[in-house]
Amino acid sequence: MTNIILCGGSGTRLWPISRTLMPKQFVKLFSCEEKKQSLFQLTVERNSKNCNSQYIVSNAEQYFLALDQLEELEKVNNKYLLEPVGRNTAPAIALACLDLPYDEIVLVTPSDHLIKDETEYAKVLEKAKELASEDNLVTFGITPQFAETGFGYIEAEGLAVKAFHEKPNKQTAEEYVKAGNYYWNSGMFCFKAGVFLDELKTYSPEIYETSKLAFNNANKEGIVRITHDDMSNIPEDSIDYAVMEKSKKVKVIPSDIAWSDVGSFDALYEELPKDENNNTLNPNHISIDSKNNLVYGNERKIATVDIEDTIIVDTGDALLISKKGSSQKVKQVVAQVRETT
Ligand code: GDD
Ligand code: MG
Repeated sequence: MTNIILCGGSGTRLWPISRTLMPKQFVKLFSCEEKKQSLFQLTVERNSKNCNSQYIVSNAEQYFLALDQLEELEKVNNKYLLEPVGRNTAPAIALACLDLPYDEIVLVTPSDHLIKDETEYAKVLEKAKELASEDNLVTFGITPQFAETGFGYIEAEGLAVKAFHEKPNKQTAEEYVKAGNYYWNSGMFCFKAGVFLDELKTYSPEIYETSKLAFNNANKEGIVRITHDDMSNIPEDSIDYAVMEKSKKVKVIPSDIAWSDVGSFDALYEELPKDENNNTLNPNHISIDSKNNLVYGNERKIATVDIEDTIIVDTGDALLISKKGSSQKVKQVVAQVRETT
């Protein structure tokens, strides 16, 4: 089984930690504890236990960043495909699949998630491989904990999938969570490379054709480099909209794998170790009667007095202060920063 690792995203909800040139997946978020690796490195390590090869698809700008981190792990023998511009996940996955045999089973994973139960993960992957070998597109369903609007929802009937709903509005998400037969889509997929390409050809033929052309024209000496023109000609779309919402071959495996997409500071707060007042552990934080805070930053001392339920992120050149529970709005900050710089 080949693991396709997607790492072209920019993780805007973790600004100012996550930046265009240093996106979330490459940041060593947990450097204050035993997990000293970036989410990308954790992904490479985790999946190399279950897959016999890894195929990394990233933005050309991030190549050296990724390579440095692979060298730290002494895992440099991966296949690599570089996109000069990002066209979202459907083209990224298609390009890697075009480089693999039809029957090769692939495990597509994001590079910016945490999976804490690796024993369960290994079991789930075994089941996924079996379903994928029967020509299904396999998704991994996470029991929803709240009405998150940034995820896809899988409407299940046993292992069969009635429908796949990408990023519903708040009201619809609330109905899904109440209904009980919906899972969050974890963003990981398992299928035969050729079966995915067939489904892409059926439901998003333009992405299929332009990706094929781009792959055929690419420079393939060592790593695969797509040309700027070819990449720009591929329509932009995610696998979720381009294929999963439309295909009739989707199956779901309920996956109790202690998963987090670390998609916001609220999610990050849950994952970081905390002191007796539920502040995140940080030797630079001077806490006077403060509790339940995320205080992130090692550039200087950060003192809080009577502060509760607050997110403080200091990177030296930027400072974020947010109420806990509002951290989804950080992407609005990024939009403004981009306008004014
Ligand atoms: N190579 C490459 N090129 N990778 C990309 C690109 C691209 O153009 N765009 C995104 N990625 C990578 C991201 O780095 C991430 O690892 C993964 O693909 C998923 O992209 P996101 O942009 O993070 O997707 P999302 O979070 O909005 O939604 C997906 O994940 C959710 C779970 O976290 C969907 O699959 C949802 O259905 C799912 O619930
Ligand atoms: Mg994501």
